[in-house]
Amino acid sequence: MSRGIVVLDFGGQYAHLIVNRIRRLRVFGEILPSDTEPERLKDADGIVLSGGPSSVYAPGRPPFDAAVLDMGLPLLGLCYGHQLLCLHLGGEVERGDVMEYGAAVLEVEAPEGVLKGLSEKEPIWMSHRDTVAAVPPGFRILGATADCPVAAMGDDERKIYGLQFHPEVAHTASGMQILENFVDLCGCDRTWTMESYIENSGEAVRRQIGKRKVFLLVSGGVDSTVCFLMLNRALGTDRVRGLHIDNGFMRKNETALVERLLGESGFDNLKVVDASAEFLQAVEGVADPEEKRQHIGEEFIRVRDRVLQELALDPEEWLLGQGTLYTDTIESGGTAHADVIKTHHNRVGVIEQLLAEGKVVEPLNQLYKDEVRELGEKLGLPHHLVWRHPFPGPGLAVRVLCTHGESGDETAGDAGIAAELKESAASAGGPGYDVDVLPLRSVGVQGDGRTYAHPAVVTLGSERQALLPPRSANGKSAGKQSEKEEGIDWESLEGVSTAITNSIPQINRVVIQLGPSHKLDQKLKAGYLTRDRLDLLRDADSLVMEALEVHGLMDRVTQMPTVLLPLSSDGIRESIVLRPITTDDFMTARFDRLPVDFLEDVTMRLLALQGIEAVYYDITHKPPGTVEWE
Ligand code: XMP
Repeated sequence: MSRGIVVLDFGGQYAHLIVNRIRRLRVFGEILPSDTEPERLKDADGIVLSGGPSSVYAPGRPPFDAAVLDMGLPLLGLCYGHQLLCLHLGGEVERGDVMEYGAAVLEVEAPEGVLKGLSEKEPIWMSHRDTVAAVPPGFRILGATADCPVAAMGDDERKIYGLQFHPEVAHTASGMQILENFVDLCGCDRTWTMESYIENSGEAVRRQIGKRKVFLLVSGGVDSTVCFLMLNRALGTDRVRGLHIDNGFMRKNETALVERLLGESGFDNLKVVDASAEFLQAVEGVADPEEKRQHIGEEFIRVRDRVLQELALDPEEWLLGQGTLYTDTIESGGTAHADVIKTHHNRVGVIEQLLAEGKVVEPLNQLYKDEVRELGEKLGLPHHLVWRHPFPGPGLAVRVLCTHGESGDETAGDAGIAAELKESAASAGGPGYDVDVLPLRSVGVQGDGRTYAHPAVVTLGSERQALLPPRSANGKSAGKQSEKEEGIDWESLEGVSTAITNSIPQINRVVIQLGPSHKLDQKLKAGYLTRDRLDLLRDADSLVMEALEVHGLMDRVTQMPTVLLPLSSDGIRESIVLRPITTDDFMTARFDRLPVDFLEDVTMRLLALQGIEAVYYDITHKPPGTVEWE
């Protein structure tokens, strides 16, 4: 197999997207740091220099060995990479003070080289400050925009091209054509298919483990399930053991589903352990979110070690399998994004040690998430399961909010909210809306730090109504048809939400009330991670997922946590929040404006659950609100 294309990462947010797009052309692509030595690149078919937030003149620009440009390999510079090529090969880059960002039209002057087959005018996506003022010797201009005279340049003889815009983003209409032209110019093999991956990766696993065996934890998530299938296929079920720990925080029927699915696929090598009682005991009486997480993490290690002991697996014979993905192994984002790098849980101390000893088997570590899903389908997993929304490790434990109640301490409940805060919230809604502060707190994110602050609740006018059009007795929305079509005024609610979180630092999240139609006088209720509350949320969550499916909305939202809040007017029943978001990378996210029909349906069904008295809907982007409430 050819080495394919190497993308050198100069810190651009799209670097992974370039590799991912190249792989969709069935060409292997990988991402390497900007200062990778030429020696490591000599087998590549071609090199892409990525974009990045820096200026080629900035003292802190990413390090780069310019000898890479003299290796005789085809090169494609994008954005920052375009300017870097220009500067090093003898052209001129002009500093700019103003950022040009967004859609533009490329006037194609020569539809050749990487621009082969393009029309005279092409919609593209620009994002730059500096510009190329003069092309290097041997280059000619291939395309320009109104504001950028050298938007595309090329030297066909040396197969070196530079583009000021981003062919890897969807807004550049012919972006895939451009990347395809480049891989063709590089003479790449089109051999990157999931079938070939299954074969090559299976072979690599067999080589790595020799006569030994593999043990792995199967959470029920896509990555570990696909990993388990891959290992079974490569080694046979005798040499693989899976362990699924039911921690009590799983979705409804989740453990049974994993068990049944793998059982039906003919795998009898998955052990399921019900450790829910131990986990619930570990978090008994705990209300603080971080403390909860910590207890759950520790309990997990305790249970795992206990089961391993019971299984009596010899560590010399049994290696550790992990469903680590390509993005988990790569320290991406370059120097400029150092703050967003997180240690992945598959890369903590003990595991690093095992990795160094060659005792960890990771058959998915070359794949992106969408490729793992494709692989899962190839290995026989059902489509809906493979394309499920992501689910956090601690599961529903981070979606059942816990408190010691109004009387738990003097800062809890309504008493804990300063009168001034209530006043500033009330005046932040503007005409037509009432704003109140909820007497509990949730996690948010602003700047580099996490916040733990109150949500605000927005209701309609002085009547304090819920925001859904009221329903009539026959179940249809009351009111004139035009009102029904207007539904919820998302536009102004989004404005109100942003205005509130921007102007009041003690508020990091905003919700609206979907039902009931009148305002309730709710108080904080003591509530912990108990089986009853988890079961209630399991029912609610399952009902919401089912409704998403029925209304054909499952693929539209990226993730939709359903959260249980200990807010109650009668001291018994509690409240639900729906948190549908769309995002590409989870670093930022937008709340989704789901159709009124769906909201009416799901609200009615949730209110019919014994134990639920109110349904809220989260209208906060990330930032300032995180996806999860804790
Ligand atoms: P936040 O809430 O940080 O979530 O905006 C971003 C994404 O991460 C998931 N998430 C977690 N996943 N363990 C996980 O495995 C966790 O503790 C955890 N907390 C959040 C969240 O579901 C979302 O997809």
